[in-house]
Amino acid sequence: MILGNQIVRLEEVDSTNNFLAEMQSKNTAFEGLVVVAKNQTNGRGQRGNTWETEEEKNLTFSFLLKPNIVVNEQFMISKVVALGLFDFLQLCRIDAQIKWPNDILVNEKKIAGVLIENTLSGNKIANAVVGIGLNVNQNTFGKHISATSLNIEMGEELVIDEVMKNLLVGIEKRYLQLKTNPSKINEDYLQHLLGLNKPKQFSVEEKNLTGVIKGVSLLGKLQVAINGELQEFGMQEIKMVL
Ligand code: BTN
Repeated sequence: MILGNQIVRLEEVDSTNNFLAEMQSKNTAFEGLVVVAKNQTNGRGQRGNTWETEEEKNLTFSFLLKPNIVVNEQFMISKVVALGLFDFLQLCRIDAQIKWPNDILVNEKKIAGVLIENTLSGNKIANAVVGIGLNVNQNTFGKHISATSLNIEMGEELVIDEVMKNLLVGIEKRYLQLKTNPSKINEDYLQHLLGLNKPKQFSVEEKNLTGVIKGVSLLGKLQVAINGELQEFGMQEIKMVL
């Protein structure tokens, strides 16, 4: 498989994830196919949020994977994608961190977000639509949004298509590593995880508390020590307060 060997380029779409999922459901998408749009009118984020970006300034795209891994291991795909983004940023000399589950931050400001939507066949992940929003040339963000971009971090404008190509190479490398050396994926993910082994503020059921991230379970749950007791949380159950 070569990620991005074929690319569907759109001027405008509601969401590249929707578009690719639709192609997949009609059997017109194959592994590695990329859908990229200059503008999304209804970009979707995690936890039912929207993903809004300035028109034509940022990278918004999705690609199809057919990982054929068991459902229990689905979080490996999140790790692969987060590390691909991390590696790409490192090549740009940007020191990033992964905020569980797979936000990418630079100095605690968000530079990229990932939305992965799986379809199953039996107990296997047959299709994963991986959507990435990466801030590229946008250099102002709303007052209440703590975000940054490649342009802000590097001080130069970038060609969005070049960024996508290089990022895809990075993600593909990690995807191959999933088959050859999965423990390296686990190790690197933890190494770059924001807040590992450091006391941080979290919000759980609208209450603020201090906890220490100890790791991430196989199922992708965040393991946090709170008052000396290790607890596991799903995505809807905990938020790190930055
Ligand atoms: C998040 O941080 O909440 C995830 C954001 C994911 C946004 C990308 S942009 C391309 C793809 N299409 C979508 O509708 N969402 C993802």
